[in-house]
Amino acid sequence: TAEAAEAVTRLTRWHDDFPTAGVRFADLTPVFADAAGFRAVIDCFAAIAPDADLVAGVDARGFLLGAGVAATLGTGVLAIRKGGKLPPPVVSREYELEYGSAALEIPADGVDLTGKRILLLDDVLATGGTLAAAAALFEEVGAEVVAAAVVLELEFLKGREHQGAYPVTSIVTL
Ligand code: PRP
Repeated sequence: TAEAAEAVTRLTRWHDDFPTAGVRFADLTPVFADAAGFRAVIDCFAAIAPDADLVAGVDARGFLLGAGVAATLGTGVLAIRKGGKLPPPVVSREYELEYGSAALEIPADGVDLTGKRILLLDDVLATGGTLAAAAALFEEVGAEVVAAAVVLELEFLKGREHQGAYPVTSIVTL
């Protein structure tokens, strides 16, 4: 929505050469800390997949989005963790990051994900490795990513090109 996009554009903190040289980091902390901005972002995401069974958010800022959207839709929320944070058994996927490499994990038991319709959320789409790895986890366990959404898409990094069949929505594209 226009209100969400305005808040993101006005409130995002930009920082050059963080966390490594050559990376321009978009910190959305002030967007989430703003009552109207956070509400607008959550409502925008909730409207994308009102029939989702489960909302999943990527470590770490995706947790905030996932929880807000899940509470709005009346679904549960699933935290997609960075490698090593969850006890076994886990489903794990390695991926390349804008800076370095990492792994994402979800539990391999305890949550029945088979056939579940997943709305996948993160704060930023950059090179796209993170979102693609997160989506691959759900495909591996027989769930369906019905939609993915991010607050901010850095289009020049072409992250969208690395995504699967699911539609990807971004509130602001730069
Ligand atoms: C940032 C951001 C996304 C990811 C996007 O997270 O929150 O998750 O990078 O990058 P990509 O599209 O190039 O994969 P980061 O890895 O910095 O982790 P953090 O949330 O723990 O800070």
